[in-house]
Amino acid sequence: MWRQVVLRVFSSPFSRRLSGQGAIRDGLKGTIGNTPLVRLNKLSQETGCTIAVKAEFMNPGGSVKDRAALYLIKDAEEKGQLRAGGTVVEGTAGNTGIGLAHICKALGYHCVIFMPDTQSQEKIDALKVLGADVRPVPAVTFDNPDNYNHQARRYAESLENAVWTNQFDNTANRRAHVETTGPEIWEQTGGRVSAVTFSTGTGGTLAGVGEYLKTKNPDVQVVLADPQGSVLYNHFTHGKLERSEGSSITEGIGQGRVTQNLNGAPVDRAILVLDSEAVAMVGDSSCLSVVYVLVVVI
Ligand SMILES: Cc1ncc(COP(=O)(O)O)c(C=O)c1O
Repeated sequence: MWRQVVLRVFSSPFSRRLSGQGAIRDGLKGTIGNTPLVRLNKLSQETGCTIAVKAEFMNPGGSVKDRAALYLIKDAEEKGQLRAGGTVVEGTAGNTGIGLAHICKALGYHCVIFMPDTQSQEKIDALKVLGADVRPVPAVTFDNPDNYNHQARRYAESLENAVWTNQFDNTANRRAHVETTGPEIWEQTGGRVSAVTFSTGTGGTLAGVGEYLKTKNPDVQVVLADPQGSVLYNHFTHGKLERSEGSSITEGIGQGRVTQNLNGAPVDRAILVLDSEAVAMVGDSSCLSVVYVLVVVI
């Protein structure tokens, strides 16, 4: 009898409304993506166009980086670099680690995260709760062989059945957005999207969504919102890899180089966002996404 009740509940219109796309999703990985596009009423009224944000915080790990994490692992599996019981290694101080740790736990992989030892205990604790082996290492620049990214690569190379997922330069990250985020935005806007704007860390989201939307309509404008202290505003505006003045309180966005994920991305325009403007706007709209993360204009 219970079985019947459960089956009835899961196949009911109520459960379909709850999941938004058919009743039962395929484990944790089936809950990644298909996030809502949310209209921002105040900004839409003020500008006279529909401005919407993609609610990526509704992914199981709480950010857009779950999509990249899933594709980095899928890529390693497809290439035979990762088999049952294997180890996923990444250098990350941010949301990619949280995404990887969730997926590794669900799929039975070990997860090892190298990060600079300047990071908060809360971040380390969150990853440990998800079962990751967290290795804080001295915070040194990328050109130093002991930088956390290089240590992650060397550690993965020293193990059997292990992969360094390399979120910055492994374009499986970009592919996640060509195959999921881009098509979702196109469908959710009924093809009426005229511009998309993003901040970038690895560049995977901007490049993947931009690439997909341009194949559907080359007139869609792709705009990069860059924080102070990053090189990308100057790169896309003046062709120079020079840091913009100042530094930023934002975490995980801004970049010192053109990653493989960002390389060749269709950027129509870059905007330099000052922290003072960002903070004022967050105060006004209660939403950091409006300033930096994935925003769609229709
Ligand atoms: C919440 C959030 N949004 C956006 C980004 C940047 O995305 P991408 O690495 O695809 O450029 C990051 C990077 O870590 C992030 O944590």
